[in-house]
Amino acid sequence: MTALGKTVPAAAATSAGSAGMAINLDHDDRARAAFIITLKKKTNFGVANELRSRYETAIVPRLEKQLGRALSDVNRDDRKLAKTELEKEPLYPIWARLTYLGQDMMWDCVDTALVHELPRLQTTASAFMDRNDTQGSLDLDPKLALPANIAKTEIHRQPGGFCFETHDRDITAGARYNGGGLMYSQGKGRTAVAGRSGGDFVRDMVAARFPDFKPKRILEIGCGTGRNTISYKRVYPDAEVVAVDCAAPLLRFAFATAEHEGVGVQFKQMDITNMSFPDESFDLVVSHIVGHETTTRGLPAMLSESWRVLTPGGVMFHLDVPTQPGHSKLFDQVLNDWQVRYNGEPFWMGWADANVKGILHDMGVPDDTAFAEYMRPPEGGAAWFCHGGRKAQTSANRRAA
Ligand SMILES: C[S@@+](CC[C@H](N)C(=O)[O-])C[C@H]1O[C@@H](n2cnc3c(N)ncnc32)[C@H](O)[C@@H]1O
Repeated sequence: MTALGKTVPAAAATSAGSAGMAINLDHDDRARAAFIITLKKKTNFGVANELRSRYETAIVPRLEKQLGRALSDVNRDDRKLAKTELEKEPLYPIWARLTYLGQDMMWDCVDTALVHELPRLQTTASAFMDRNDTQGSLDLDPKLALPANIAKTEIHRQPGGFCFETHDRDITAGARYNGGGLMYSQGKGRTAVAGRSGGDFVRDMVAARFPDFKPKRILEIGCGTGRNTISYKRVYPDAEVVAVDCAAPLLRFAFATAEHEGVGVQFKQMDITNMSFPDESFDLVVSHIVGHETTTRGLPAMLSESWRVLTPGGVMFHLDVPTQPGHSKLFDQVLNDWQVRYNGEPFWMGWADANVKGILHDMGVPDDTAFAEYMRPPEGGAAWFCHGGRKAQTSANRRAA
């Protein structure tokens, strides 16, 4: 059922004006955005690199001399030592303040653009919610017990968070999420998946591992505003695509975007740690940057649910930020820890420290297909921490009735 109390059935493609669900920045918005992106880049690369160089040339030698051994990127005591020393550096609070300020300015800039964009976006989205000839569907569940990790947290310090809504068609949080994403990725030098669509990246990585695999039913969990969802319909044109998230405003935005693009996706509101799909419903289960926003209990639950709903022979493929100790240097771990405490990323360290390979093993993912490793597109770009596996052809791992 939709928020409006009806199911929107599959049917013909639609168009709602050329702008669709894209956020158009006017001259002043672009000027503000350019300033903020530059500020974020200077902070994340310029100031942080100055601090890194101070850490490497002064702090590391001093600590290693005191300890009589090399610092280790996987030692949590060493992380604490590095943090204590870095906090004494004059540049550290400057980096922290600029990061905090850049985030505030980013959301101000997004909301200023939404003053002129939101009415059009809302009208477009509402029109799709009213149609009965859409390609895909939007199933919202107003009774869903919203998971606290998302409903009670302003992730990325997004004002109001992902679930906040004031009426049953509200897309504001989705518009904010996408507006923030535009600037967030540029200010960090990362795009959704190293400059390619999420579907392209996952299809290539899955094909390299399991060349015979051709999914007919695909599930994306934690789809948000559907930034990657739509690409799965393009790279697997014959497959049915279902996408779930707990945040209704994000799902409404995703549904309207997919419809505007003439792509039929079934969007459903669910808690990904406790989904209502029957066992063995999907051949491919994917997620993009979701695990780092779940709690230490939520992560294994989300992975177990992905595995439960997978058909025999199906593939589970999740990708997320590569912040694990070892891949991430002690210096970066300390800066990430600051983001946990002050910048709306409360689950980053739990994610970074999680033993994902161990969770997969405990869930019964066969060791010969389980993977938890860094992957990057063949043409280069940032690495992602990808994890998953392939279910055996026999019907195992079903959830107890
Ligand atoms: C960082 S966003 C990523 C969204 C999208 N995959 C993308 O790449 O833009 C994480 C998403 O996971 C969703 N999420 C996190 N925990 C969830 C849960 N327990 N149930 C449903 N959705 C959840 C959030 O609502 C959010 O939309």
